[in-house]
Amino acid sequence: MSNMQKTDVLVIGCGIAGGTVALKLADKGIPVTVVTRTNEPVESNTYYAQGGVVYKGEKDTPEKLAQDIMKAGADHSDLKAVNILANEGPELVEEFLIKRIGVSFDKLANGHFSFAKEGGHTEPRIIHVADATGVAIEDELVDSLASHPNINLLKGMTAIDFIKNKDKCLGGIFLDQKTEKTIQIFAKKTILATGGFSSIYLHTANPAGARGDGLAMAERAGIKVKDLEYVQFHPTVFHMIPESRFLISEAVRGAGARIVKADGTTVMDYYDKERKDMATRDVVARCIYEEIEKHNLEHLYLDLYSYIPKKTILERFPNIYKTCLNCGVDITKELVPVIPAAHYACGGVVADEWGRTSLENLYALGEVACTGVQGANRLASTSLLEGMVFANRTQQDILENPGNNVEIVELEDIEISKKYLPLAMISRYMKKIKSIMWHHVGIIRTIKELKMAVEELEEMSKELDYYYTEFELTDDLIGLRNACTTGVMVTKAALANEQSLGCHCRRD
Ligand code: SIN
Repeated sequence: MSNMQKTDVLVIGCGIAGGTVALKLADKGIPVTVVTRTNEPVESNTYYAQGGVVYKGEKDTPEKLAQDIMKAGADHSDLKAVNILANEGPELVEEFLIKRIGVSFDKLANGHFSFAKEGGHTEPRIIHVADATGVAIEDELVDSLASHPNINLLKGMTAIDFIKNKDKCLGGIFLDQKTEKTIQIFAKKTILATGGFSSIYLHTANPAGARGDGLAMAERAGIKVKDLEYVQFHPTVFHMIPESRFLISEAVRGAGARIVKADGTTVMDYYDKERKDMATRDVVARCIYEEIEKHNLEHLYLDLYSYIPKKTILERFPNIYKTCLNCGVDITKELVPVIPAAHYACGGVVADEWGRTSLENLYALGEVACTGVQGANRLASTSLLEGMVFANRTQQDILENPGNNVEIVELEDIEISKKYLPLAMISRYMKKIKSIMWHHVGIIRTIKELKMAVEELEEMSKELDYYYTEFELTDDLIGLRNACTTGVMVTKAALANEQSLGCHCRRD
């Protein structure tokens, strides 16, 4: 019999979405178990967010923010969800991020916030902590979770599947990576906050854990998902060999940097005369990609030093400066080689305005969820806010409907074999998935390549299902199988949608 635990609320993942809902419920006296895959709970997409969080600019209104989100999302966003974000977001930034967990956002000498602007925003409204906002948020959040008397923080646990009883979620099954045993956690309410899947692409801005675990679990449980074809590619990821994951924040273009060719000529004037480098992310990523393809280049460049004073670069982007310098590029004097890379899933597990999914007692929050806010293309720096706003709503919903008893059912033990699938084989499969996704389900998609990708990924999926049942369960094997399932889901969604919109571009 595997280990068994019970709790009132089970939260899977502890980025900003999972962390916010857990802390808010725990503050109200609810016992919460937070499960995180890595041994370092800060390790999440939130941690790597550079740009910042949308707040309220000095001449801003919720209506202006809502309009910008709708426009960036190619009018595919759900207006109700967008209005919730625009109206409830700023107050929550103050109440939760600033007052509850104590994040110190950068301020100017006059005491006002140092507002940044990014692509698609008509107002400077993004607050930040230099160029490492995610680190500042996640450090404070995880400190608060780890020291909370009502929170049981379990590290090094890989989510395997939900426990279901007919149409109800009863909790989840996890692999304890240390003991290599499974553990069943039963809960009145379960919250899925496992993040996105962009690391199933060869070039990505995401950490390796963003491999679609939550999405694949939802698929196996028959939970509704949508908009998976809208994978957002960030225009500027530092180009290094082997592939890099280091993002050069869009905030550098907000501060004046330009995308250029090797001779310093600008690129975006040609593609978008009006908005130039501040066009929305889908547009800029596609232009860079096309320019690279047209001229058979390895990458383009970001030029900071011709457009931003050195002092500003050093003060505003210290992390980007240091990381690039360590790789031999001095951004105060040299062009920075960049390529677009997979960054954010606009679609995901369908969640209503309270975070509720199609499975009773299961909520989805953050990047794994599709609340409808992000439409066909996410407006920059809205994702942390979205995670927090809907986490706050889920918390309210759970307080109003806490559920009765924790329902426990007898499950068959998962057979654990003693054969390990060799790591080299796991890594070979993962490379293959990443290559298929990048080359066939990338920035520009064709029917022929999408069909080819579905075929190859489905074949691989069968092989991986076999390994999954025959070999010892490890975090890597679970993740590999999930990455492949997610690849199939995204590719099928991209194939089914013949209309180019936002970040989904079909050229058949
Ligand atoms: C960035 O800093 O460019 C990323 C911000 C975001 O993805 O919203």
